[in-house]
Amino acid sequence: MKFPFAALSCLWIAASACGGSGEPKGNPEGTPPRRAVVNPDDPDACSECHAQIVGEWKESMHARAHHDNDPIFAAVRQIATGALGDEVAGDCANCHTPRDAANPDSPAGKLGVSCASCHMLDAVHPGKSGAEALGFADVVRMRAGHDMAEGSSPAHQTGLAPEFIKDRKTVCLACHAAAANPSGVNTCATGAEFEVRKGEEKGCMDCHMPRIPGPGGIVGSRSEHARHVFLGPHRAWYHDDGEFLSTAVSLEGTLGETGLKVTLNNKTGHGFPTGFPGRVAMLSAVGKDAAGAEVWRNEDSPESVFNKVYVDEAGKPTLPVLSKSMSRDNRLEPSESRTLEFEVPQTVATVELKLELRLVSTKAVAKLGLEGKLEAQPRTVASATIAR
Ligand code: HEC
Ligand code: HEC
Ligand code: HEC
Ligand code: HEC
Ligand code: HEC
Repeated sequence: MKFPFAALSCLWIAASACGGSGEPKGNPEGTPPRRAVVNPDDPDACSECHAQIVGEWKESMHARAHHDNDPIFAAVRQIATGALGDEVAGDCANCHTPRDAANPDSPAGKLGVSCASCHMLDAVHPGKSGAEALGFADVVRMRAGHDMAEGSSPAHQTGLAPEFIKDRKTVCLACHAAAANPSGVNTCATGAEFEVRKGEEKGCMDCHMPRIPGPGGIVGSRSEHARHVFLGPHRAWYHDDGEFLSTAVSLEGTLGETGLKVTLNNKTGHGFPTGFPGRVAMLSAVGKDAAGAEVWRNEDSPESVFNKVYVDEAGKPTLPVLSKSMSRDNRLEPSESRTLEFEVPQTVATVELKLELRLVSTKAVAKLGLEGKLEAQPRTVASATIAR
């Protein structure tokens, strides 16, 4: 058994002593009191024992997956329902507010992808997505990566670690596998991209929820826990965190007789950029002469733009959700190394390279009413300065 009885009761006494509720502290019998979590959809009810993890989750885009808390989702959802009818909102709710897809504005819906969405599960059904894939338990039983003996928690039932969590990806793919728009055009395809990668031993959780030092809360008996901020690009904008993005792509260049060569290496297990099809990455290269004056830049270079373009029936670019087909996909494939070549004037002595990511293209910023907002700014993924 992972939790010797004595160790658990000591932890429980420590937890109760800091609990702050009016209930009796500790338990002289050594049996944890069964103080059941009544509402599994209230992350604040988990705080008493798992505070560190609850605080991390609140920083994540999962906690912001309801349209009230994500201006990009809110704007696209509004355009989609305006053009295609209110029924579409139910489709979005399936993944964005899975604990109450039928009533996204209920308290459980507003929590977005909450604790119970991933932990109160008996099964993940293959071939389905969002709430339809998630086989929610009808008892309050929380399970994650560890085999938990019956009675390990005073607050909820426990059990063996399910295979869909142990394999480090299946629970994620319930929502991240692939999504199509109402016309059947593939939009997000992170999971599908990921599966084409051969020899990849890292699962989604290894990069997006790495194990870090420190317990997940006062009852945590381990010296580390899985970080629940769900590292990703959109969160980086709100928490000014460039570290994770900087692991996505490496950037190298050489400046020689034949011109400038820039090599980009995708180090993620999926496309770059992946996920929401509106993301755009752009490489800028600025050539300066020996005196430091700008003499060249890679303007009008479609190959320096890494994105997907979606079009309507007439072939005109439109938002992915309204599109009839995809006309371009110039993103980096999983583990792809791509070299771009540019002719540059002989006067160029140094080149400043910068790879930037935008949450939505500059054109879409206006369409979505995001002008002047934080979400309209680019962020640097990688940069380098090279000399001749
Ligand atoms: C009164 C304390 C308490 C409360 C409140 C509580 N838990 Fe727990 N929980 C525990 C204990 C104790 C364990 C087993 C020990 C451990 O994880 O280190 C546990 C285990 C878990 C596990 C399994 C972890 C693993 O490593 O496999 C999950 C998941 C979990 N809790 C989720 C929740 C969620 C979600 C809530 C809120 C809805 C919640 N808990 C509320 C005490 C609590
Ligand atoms: C998007 C899915 C998802 C959400 C949302 C989520 N978790 Fe987890 N959680 C996981 C996965 C996956 C693991 C297992 C990670 C591992 O084994 O490395 C985990 C691990 C845990 C553990 C065990 C900690 C450890 O690593 O020892 C606890 C406790 C826990 N979660 C509680 C919570 C609570 C409380 C919330 C809400 C505030 C929450 N989780 C939200 C997916 C999720
Ligand atoms: C119930 C559906 C669901 C499940 C299960 C789920 N996600 Fe998500 N995830 C979402 C949605 C919806 C968003 C986008 C929220 C938004 O930006 O409005 C998201 C966003 C993300 C992001 C982007 C964060 C950012 O800052 O840009 C990452 C990374 C992520 N999820 C990883 C995971 C991992 C890893 C797992 C498995 C442990 C997982 N997700 C499980 C629905 C889910
Ligand atoms: C080797 C590390 C690594 C692995 C493995 C990995 N990712 Fe990522 N992921 C990243 C990095 C770095 C980024 C940021 C760059 C980007 O947006 O493409 C990212 C971005 C994302 C995003 C943000 C998409 C958006 O809309 O902006 C999601 C969602 C995501 N990953 C989900 C997953 C899922 C699901 C898996 C497993 C099938 C997975 N990742 C496996 C490193 C990884
Ligand atoms: C199959 C599950 C699923 C469905 C259905 C779904 N989404 Fe999402 N959505 C996601 C996931 C997962 C993400 C996180 C990025 C990624 O991997 O694509 C996301 C991200 C987004 C984003 C980007 C948010 C950000 O952080 O910038 C927008 C906008 C969005 N979805 C709009 C919608 C709209 C509008 C609908 C309904 C028409 C919808 N989605 C339906 C799973 C889904």
